[in-house]
Amino acid sequence: MSDAPAKHQPLVFSGMQPTNTLHLGNYLGALKNWVKLQDQMPCIYCVVDMHAITAVAYAKPDDLRTAVREVAAAYIAAGVDPKRSILFQQSAVPAHAELAWIFNCVARLGWMDRMTQFKEKTGKHKERASVGLYTYPTLMAADILVYKATHVPVGEDQKQHLELTRDVAQKFNNDYGAEDFFPLPEAVVLGTATRVMSLRDGSKKMSKSDDSDMSRINLTDDADMVAQKIRKARTDPNPLPDDEKGLEGRPEAENLINIFAALAGTPRSDVIARFAGQQFSGFKNELADLAVAEIAPIAEKMRRLLADPAELDRILADGAEQAAALAAPILRETKRLVGFHA
Ligand code: TRP
Repeated sequence: MSDAPAKHQPLVFSGMQPTNTLHLGNYLGALKNWVKLQDQMPCIYCVVDMHAITAVAYAKPDDLRTAVREVAAAYIAAGVDPKRSILFQQSAVPAHAELAWIFNCVARLGWMDRMTQFKEKTGKHKERASVGLYTYPTLMAADILVYKATHVPVGEDQKQHLELTRDVAQKFNNDYGAEDFFPLPEAVVLGTATRVMSLRDGSKKMSKSDDSDMSRINLTDDADMVAQKIRKARTDPNPLPDDEKGLEGRPEAENLINIFAALAGTPRSDVIARFAGQQFSGFKNELADLAVAEIAPIAEKMRRLLADPAELDRILADGAEQAAALAAPILRETKRLVGFHA
């Protein structure tokens, strides 16, 4: 991680969509790093409900409200501490939407047309996608820059959106003659961020939308369920390899070893050295123990938090108040630079 220019105080911003219960991939790929970053600099963690409606309309408003609480509970259960970090819901701070409008007028159509995630999500049916899905990246840029955040922990799939955020910041600064007004935030891809694949098919990402629940470990799964899913995880008939090269062409074996390494906090090579030549059954028992030890307490804490939605709402409201207070002067100055009423 390089230092941000001195002009801007180091600040982390990240967010996840409230689109369903979170799983081991979200935990090892993101949340675990968010929790660690709290020891390094101030952090703001957002539940991005405005992004959530770009793809689906929730049948009932309560479905979205419930999903927001579940994701907030997962953040806290995983170790995001609302006393140290700001934890809030995007739609509670209107500054995001206001800045996003300005950024829609800064970003160029050519930039947006290059966004690979939009193309992947819409496939051949671009004309049926919402306009919000198309401008999703400018709202994401606003999420980050309305706090002048400098560091953004994200997965591989969001790196392009972060490059767009930097382009927007740079063009705004140039167009409005305000050098260094917005920082050019950098992606934080920590070494331990792990790409977790499906337990049924090592070539697919672990995903909340997979039809088979056995393909993923949900953060709400109890101990028995976690252990069962690991023991039933697909593998090939060969024993564990002797070295990293031996993982080539064995995506299921590689995935389980990656998960083991991430949970144990050890390099992959150590895991391989330890289990070289052994059968998967013994390895899976140990992996199940590790996963249960880490996930079951999170599930338990989530259950406790979700049993008291009023308390969760209070935490989110408190976070929104702090976030709004940070965003207000930055938005005001931005509007002044543009020539808006401010
Ligand atoms: N687009 C991100 C995702 O789907 C979520 C997100 C929205 C985000 N705004 C953000 C992530 C700002 C980091 C910073 O994963």
